[in-house]
Amino acid sequence: MRSTVPTGETMRHHWLAFTSNRRFHQAPKLVSKAEGIFYHTPQGHKLYDSLSGLWCTPLGHGNRQISEAISHQLSQLDYAPAFNVSHPLAFQLSEQIAGMAPGDLNHVLYCNSGSEAADTALKLARAYWRARGKPEKTKFIGRAKGYHGVNFGGISVGGIGPNRKVYGQTLDAYHLPHTWLTENRFSRGLPQEGDYLADALLQILEVQDASNIAAVMVEPMAGSGGVIVPSSGYLKRLRTLCDQHDILLIFDEVITGFGRMGTVFGADYFAVQPDMLTCAKALTNGIMPMGAVITSRDIYQTMMDQPGDDFMIEFPHGYTYSAHPLACAAAMASLEQLNQPSLMEQVRSLSQVFEDAIHDLKGLPLVEDIRNIGLAGAIQIQSDPAHPTKRASEISALCWDKEVYVRFGGNNLSFAPPFICSKQDIHEIFSRVADAIQQYARQQGLN
Ligand SMILES: Cc1ncc(COP(=O)(O)O)c(C=O)c1O
Repeated sequence: MRSTVPTGETMRHHWLAFTSNRRFHQAPKLVSKAEGIFYHTPQGHKLYDSLSGLWCTPLGHGNRQISEAISHQLSQLDYAPAFNVSHPLAFQLSEQIAGMAPGDLNHVLYCNSGSEAADTALKLARAYWRARGKPEKTKFIGRAKGYHGVNFGGISVGGIGPNRKVYGQTLDAYHLPHTWLTENRFSRGLPQEGDYLADALLQILEVQDASNIAAVMVEPMAGSGGVIVPSSGYLKRLRTLCDQHDILLIFDEVITGFGRMGTVFGADYFAVQPDMLTCAKALTNGIMPMGAVITSRDIYQTMMDQPGDDFMIEFPHGYTYSAHPLACAAAMASLEQLNQPSLMEQVRSLSQVFEDAIHDLKGLPLVEDIRNIGLAGAIQIQSDPAHPTKRASEISALCWDKEVYVRFGGNNLSFAPPFICSKQDIHEIFSRVADAIQQYARQQGLN
């Protein structure tokens, strides 16, 4: 079946996710083909993909190994019931993931997205404490500017106000301060200041008491919040405090998982072991929807050791598409490539080029901060006080005209190029972004 380019009223049947639909209809941005590090539009333009889709296609588009694995799996087993039945590839994949995950994070629960992974982890944290005889440990602690997807657990623990404000009552959750500090502006890689910010946990505990808290959930670095990187000792301090107060620590590695920071996980980068880790996106190179929660031996064993008959379900949770055979096939093929030491080496070497290229934009009009870690970075644009997100969105639109797809969120432009791009590609992307920022500032009379 050939797809036709939608126009006018026919477009309105599709209500776009997380999009200003009214604005979209004024200037639709469509892509109809993707290859390597480029998107192609129906109008014949070829755009750099500067965010690996939505942080999810680090191996680029059209990866042969993955598409062949999916086709093969489709010819063998298109679907297997996820409850009470499984299929061999699900076990192979879990072994592969357990081998890549740090420490004793060896048990994998599957879902279909990062949002589902976040809510699965939060539910598991409560169930774990109940199994340990502490059913009152139900509250959660997240962090301002944190993003854990869009389901009720994720928005409760998440710390991005506009994502919560129209939904009323959420779960009981409290928030650590974010780790963006004025004095750290334009840091290259890890910022100097901020280990002390983890101590804010103690202030929350003073009021809520650790006996009521199930878990702290944070991203190793806040990706969607604008690549906000904590200082080197921050997560270690959070780990120590969680241990001291008998609170689970969950890392949301939906963005940082599988190489984005130049290590397999953010946990490896910071040498901090969480009790659970969530992942999605790069797990299948974005090709099939899949998310996962990887848990420690203690959590798994506690759930398995619950008293009761052995026909009892230990954790009443799961999805029709948990460990879907096609997603497992995509993930196996994706992880085989992402687990190559030479690829991680390439990410680390490109990260240096990326750092230099993004920081070259310091000094351009409206650029008020630049942050980076691994192959991820953000340019923070000075907000128009009357319309805080307007400038970044308009600069992103100019980037599109210059044939670079750039994601904006709040007042940030975010970048996470595919691991397969070249040094020249990185320079070209930032040279076009610099042009777009300068052009915007000129048009607005702000240069
Ligand atoms: C850290 C983090 N957690 C969770 C999610 C939600 O993932 P999904 O959109 O697959 O539900 C995202 C998405 O960007 C994310 O960055």
